[in-house]
Amino acid sequence: MNYDIADPLLAEDGVRRIEWAGRRMPVLRTVRDRFLDERPLEGHVVAACLHVTAETANLMLALRDGGAEPLLCASNPLSTQDDVAAALVADGIPVFAIRGEDSDTYYKHIHAVLDHAPAVTMDDGADLATLLHTDRRDIEVIGSTEETTTGVIRLRAMAADGTLRVPVVAVNDSATKHLFDNHYGTGQSTLDGVIRATNVLLAGLNVVVVGYGDCGRGIASRADGLGAKVIVVEVDPVRALTAAMDGFRVMTASEAAAIGDLFITVTGNKHVLRREHFERMRDGVILANSGHFDVEIDLVGLRAMSVARRPVRANLEEFEMNDGRRILVAAEGRLVNLGAAEGHPADVMDMSFSNQALAAEYLIQNRGKLEPGIYTLPSEIDDRVATIKLGHLGGTLEQLTEEQVAYLSGWQEGTA
Ligand code: NAI
Repeated sequence: MNYDIADPLLAEDGVRRIEWAGRRMPVLRTVRDRFLDERPLEGHVVAACLHVTAETANLMLALRDGGAEPLLCASNPLSTQDDVAAALVADGIPVFAIRGEDSDTYYKHIHAVLDHAPAVTMDDGADLATLLHTDRRDIEVIGSTEETTTGVIRLRAMAADGTLRVPVVAVNDSATKHLFDNHYGTGQSTLDGVIRATNVLLAGLNVVVVGYGDCGRGIASRADGLGAKVIVVEVDPVRALTAAMDGFRVMTASEAAAIGDLFITVTGNKHVLRREHFERMRDGVILANSGHFDVEIDLVGLRAMSVARRPVRANLEEFEMNDGRRILVAAEGRLVNLGAAEGHPADVMDMSFSNQALAAEYLIQNRGKLEPGIYTLPSEIDDRVATIKLGHLGGTLEQLTEEQVAYLSGWQEGTA
């Protein structure tokens, strides 16, 4: 078997980690049980470019239970859990990922999974799909799936200019993905990453959250819960207003730069913190990013402005400015929750990755019927996933009475 990982001897630790995550993924367990019976992915190669974590490992096992031949490479050079990669390889699933790999190795690994001529590709950030439309047009897939907001934005841009040549399921657009993974998952794990990298007490700090989308709302509310004084920076008027009514101060990045202690970017955009902001920041501020790419903080600009750089803790680097101020950057400006912590808890990846497994099934079931374009899984799947998850959290759904069904579908009752 072909693979490229850091150290096969780490497998035992990885197995424990995968099992622990698996215990907290009851929806995926249900999918796996059905997959074992029905084998809907039989014989199909599924190439995944996802964060190589214990939760992703459980997805790989689910795909294999469904009959697929899964392969995995990393969707970020800093998020790979080397022990998990080793455990998957020991279990016969090829992995091409090494934590901290350089850019050349990262792309070599992405090509390696594509070399296996996959029927379905699974992305977190559209790396595989982009290659299918550039250097690897030789590969014909049934379809692709996309995990994250940034990937979906890119694929929609490809659809809009007529470039997209495959059907793509936007897993991020499922309600049981973005309303939970982005909000609760990113909310908790981003602060987990910041805390592990810095060990700062959030209570009383001015925490600036740049971007108040699904992820930003989760981060802001959790920082608020820990006693931080949250400031939100937004460009969208409705989201900015929402932040204001959620009780946060809303201001420009430039205003926030002068008073923030900790800045967290989560916009999916580029250079939202840049030289003009670094110039206004106070000594000792901490910058972290939880948006998909490491371009939200202008690190090239920061490096150019600094007179010295040094690591001060694991996953924390200090930049000294010529006026003596120090600016600290967590996890190299990459996704802080994956670089400095373990990513989202399994409890929430349970739903995201159930949707991924079901998206692969959907593409294979609808083989040849889907035009190139962006698809969302049917809402019944959201309902099913949510109902199972609710049950595991001890909740029970109320049921509509027949009278209520009739009332909601009619219009005459209540009119004069
Ligand atoms: P979203 O589209 O719901 O929210 C992004 C927000 O940023 C929008 O409200 C937008 O108006 C705002 N924004 C854009 N440019 C801005 C600027 N210059 N200044 C201030 N605000 C700006 O997106 P979502 O789902 O919250 O995702 C955000 C990013 O996080 C994406 O890159 C996504 O891929 C990534 N993500 C990261 C995860 C993680 O594990 N860390 C998990 C899920 C998503």
